[in-house]
Amino acid sequence: MTELDPLIVAQVDALLDGEHNPITALANASALLYNTMPDLNWAGFYLYSPTNASLDLGPFQGQVACMHIQPGQGVVGTSFAQQQALRVPNVHEFAGHIACDAASNSEVVVPLTVGTTTVGVLDIDSPRLDRFSENDLKTLQAFAQALAKHLDADAIRKVY
Ligand code: SME
Repeated sequence: MTELDPLIVAQVDALLDGEHNPITALANASALLYNTMPDLNWAGFYLYSPTNASLDLGPFQGQVACMHIQPGQGVVGTSFAQQQALRVPNVHEFAGHIACDAASNSEVVVPLTVGTTTVGVLDIDSPRLDRFSENDLKTLQAFAQALAKHLDADAIRKVY
């Protein structure tokens, strides 16, 4: 299996140079991931809404997805609540996994932290079991860090 080329970290940084709209930035970040990584059925973001006290669906590529996830629920909510990246080789073995798309078999979720605030998560799904390697996870964490440098937590709050 081809691992994610760490070059994607520099690519997202260059792509978002000078971008101030968080929705615009996240939309293109999801498109970059979805079209770079083979065998995905979903790539996108859930952003925390303090008003709703839930993780609300953000920009993504893929099938129609769950719109609101409670912190602590599913892979997304667990990663957010624990502020920890999660690599799940088989989602059917993850207690509480939320099946937005029955095609998903493996998943990786990385917290998206802007400054000291975790504003949401990056979520990627694959129909292939064990699709994501440890190196993929590390590259995705670096990707999230590079992306976060182009985001403003207050601008996200205005929308979510
Ligand atoms: N499977 C996720 C829900 C989000 S969808 O995969 C897009 C979960 O268990 O949190």
